[in-house]
Amino acid sequence: MEDNKLIDIEKKVLENYKIYSPSKIPLEKKNSKKYFLRREKLFLDCLKLPKKIFLGANLLDLGCGTGEADLLYAKWGAKLNLVEINPKSVKQLRKYFSYFGLTKSIAKIENKSLFNYNSKKKFDIVVSEGVLHHTQNVEKGFKKLSTNLKSGGFCVLQVAFDSSQLQRNLQRFILDYLIGNQYSNKLIEEISKILFSETINRANKIGGRSKKQIIYDAYNNPKHKGINLPNLLNIFKKNNINYYSSYPSIEPENLINGLHTLLPSEHVLQNPNITAFQSLFFLLASYNDEKLIKNYSKDLVSLEKKWKKLMKETTLSDYEYGSKINPTKISNYFNVFAHKSLKLLSKRNSINEKKLIIFSNELKMLMDILKTKDIKKIKNKINNFKILFRGYNGVPSNYIVGYKK
Ligand SMILES: C[S@@+](CC[C@H](N)C(=O)[O-])C[C@H]1O[C@@H](n2cnc3c(N)ncnc32)[C@H](O)[C@@H]1O
Repeated sequence: MEDNKLIDIEKKVLENYKIYSPSKIPLEKKNSKKYFLRREKLFLDCLKLPKKIFLGANLLDLGCGTGEADLLYAKWGAKLNLVEINPKSVKQLRKYFSYFGLTKSIAKIENKSLFNYNSKKKFDIVVSEGVLHHTQNVEKGFKKLSTNLKSGGFCVLQVAFDSSQLQRNLQRFILDYLIGNQYSNKLIEEISKILFSETINRANKIGGRSKKQIIYDAYNNPKHKGINLPNLLNIFKKNNINYYSSYPSIEPENLINGLHTLLPSEHVLQNPNITAFQSLFFLLASYNDEKLIKNYSKDLVSLEKKWKKLMKETTLSDYEYGSKINPTKISNYFNVFAHKSLKLLSKRNSINEKKLIIFSNELKMLMDILKTKDIKKIKNKINNFKILFRGYNGVPSNYIVGYKK
């Protein structure tokens, strides 16, 4: 029964992806430099995986799509084993590899479902980006990653967490509510363009995919689930995979740990529910912090001045015996510093109560207006929101890396 559903979803997802590719981006040589550089940053700076580890590595990509990411693994010296269910994507992938002169890096391409993939060989690196959340059984899919991984090897997963995906799934719910049993690809396209133009335009501008590709991937797609993060961490555990890194980070900010106690990553493993803090951030993500940082950059300068003054006047950065500092002087200078710090903290865009209250109110207003089924009214309401369906519309993708014990 469960297997029938898995096969049924697989078929429907494939049908949808045959209409518009979910992954192809215009990657001619002149456009590729920027794309490759960003990916390198993702791996080195964010996921802590230097390109060196790809050199000579046997890499398996489950659901490789049109192969843009694999081109870079090939450039870094990996030997590629690629699995993809969509024959159209495999065709495009071959074109890319020949265009970039990297065909020799492909050890094997298999045009089949990842659920039917078996290999005697174990791999140094197994990746699967943007795939498991389009399948019926994430746990079964993840098992394919872990069983094909060598011990000590890394698996790189890109999925949508349920927190990150909540706003997008609300959008899918709204489309379904408005369309009812008139369901058609055309109607989904039309209404999503009206109601969710900000999300679609933003993804188009940043990711380089066409609007149709984005709409078919996000809205027409029969399966786009959000994966529960504590559950995923338990799946890691069951499969002998240790959590290693993530982007955006699933580790709560500001954990203070000595090396003799649990490290942040060990906290995450021991108590997966601790990721609730970051999940709130994934849920509410709207705008980039750049504007905010500009907003408080002057405060940073004046805070640093107050800090230096505190250090100088109290000599507390390098206290020497016999300095005879007046205790009141210490508390006064600290007070000035604390005052400036509070000002800065109030401007910081961290996860805060205010944001969650606004989001909650907007969600209530949206659910109320939705009942009118009046698209114009719904659109006007959405246009006035501050957080819901604004900017990122929830974190668009989550990367999580593990290694096999
Ligand atoms: C959003 S795309 C991501 C493609 C690529 N990994 C990337 O990051 O650009 C999802 C891909 O997963 C493939 N896919 C979905 N279900 C699959 C399955 N059961 N087995 C293999 N591939 C699958 C789709 O055909 C599609 O190419």
